[in-house]
Amino acid sequence: MSATVLVGAQWGDEGKGKAIDRIAPDTDIVIRYQGGNNAGHTVFADGVKLGLHLIPSSILHARPVPMLGDGVVIDPEALFAEIDALAAHGIDCSRLKISGNAHLTMPYHRALDGVIERHLGRAQLGTTKKGIGPTYADKAARIGIRVQDLLDVKIFEQKLEINVREKNAVLSKIYNRMPLDGKQILAQYAAFAERLGPHIADTGRLVHDALTAGQAVLFEGAQGTLLDIDHGTYPFVTSSSPAAGGACTGTGIGPRFIDRVVGICKAYTTRVGAGPFPTELLDEVGDHLGAVGAEFGVTTGRKRRCGWLDAVLLRYAARLNSLSDLFLTKLDVLSGLETVRIATAYVCDGQRTEVFPANQTLFHHAEPVYEELPGWSDDLSSAKKFGDLPANAQRFVERVEELGGVPIRWIGVGPGRDETIER
Ligand code: IMP
Repeated sequence: MSATVLVGAQWGDEGKGKAIDRIAPDTDIVIRYQGGNNAGHTVFADGVKLGLHLIPSSILHARPVPMLGDGVVIDPEALFAEIDALAAHGIDCSRLKISGNAHLTMPYHRALDGVIERHLGRAQLGTTKKGIGPTYADKAARIGIRVQDLLDVKIFEQKLEINVREKNAVLSKIYNRMPLDGKQILAQYAAFAERLGPHIADTGRLVHDALTAGQAVLFEGAQGTLLDIDHGTYPFVTSSSPAAGGACTGTGIGPRFIDRVVGICKAYTTRVGAGPFPTELLDEVGDHLGAVGAEFGVTTGRKRRCGWLDAVLLRYAARLNSLSDLFLTKLDVLSGLETVRIATAYVCDGQRTEVFPANQTLFHHAEPVYEELPGWSDDLSSAKKFGDLPANAQRFVERVEELGGVPIRWIGVGPGRDETIER
């Protein structure tokens, strides 16, 4: 039995695609457990760069069956665009299985995401505008439409009618927007239903049966720990549960099955959208990290905010997810800096703390306490084993391991598939 959860240890964009690419070939199933097409991974197929948003990044590998679990939200239009782009490069997605319990992102969710953000003005979250928040809001309000509803036209039509009536009132009366055409949505989703039908499956049962038969399953988290709706930097979070606990609720698997939780963490920190970020660098070092690390969102193209690695957040992610191993990505991006820093603690309102403040106001005022280490200038991309790294890079990795309290099993030293050191 082997059930591994793969979770972002920061604010997303840690390089989970690369980590999955490394681990997935040895697994039988890769299942996404939350989020929607707000996520983004870059893959290379046929030498062509493609962005994946919903399809598990393991799609390039023959062995694992790709699945989208109950906790995922699915925009069929986005899903089929992705499937078609992959098919154009010879990648077949016919094996993709989708939970009937997953919720559908509808055109009114996308419309609402945009107008709500505008309405929030200076308080806006900087969402991806993919309709994620409104889809999860309807799920919690129990008026959401699920993938399985597509299999019953009557039910689908009833649920759609209730929603369109309510959403059109909100869009037109509160936000002064044009109402959406329910009939058009019905026709569009009826066509999606035909295509989606063969993919709909009881994914929870399939994963359970695979695990009890001794197969290996990878639970793929999107976004990251600090974007978790319950445990992240609320309200600057996404609307789902990226933390490892979400792997169980988002797939229907009991917690006793999980035997490994791999955290993915960059050698520095990035964040997109608004919200507190204690180690953010608004200087030339931040520009260096952004430029060398190509820190632009795969989903929105937005420039990511960059800063030093934050060990306070790493320890929080280690505790919250019960991390068993770490995959440290993008170590090469730090090459060329004279010195490198890691935040080891914060000073919040005059008090030093080594733990993530439970009070959000304190976190907003957190001043990082840094440890400075000597940098290195060598190109790391040809390093095959830990001993090949320059002594100062080795020291940095060992210090991250000590400060985070989690063994670093993999180290990313370049964007390529082979540019990973395994310890
Ligand atoms: P939403 O998930 O589109 O509602 O956006 C909520 C917040 O999560 C925003 O700050 C987004 O920038 C952030 N976010 C959503 N998905 C990702 C991701 O895949 N990587 C990094 N940030 C994300």
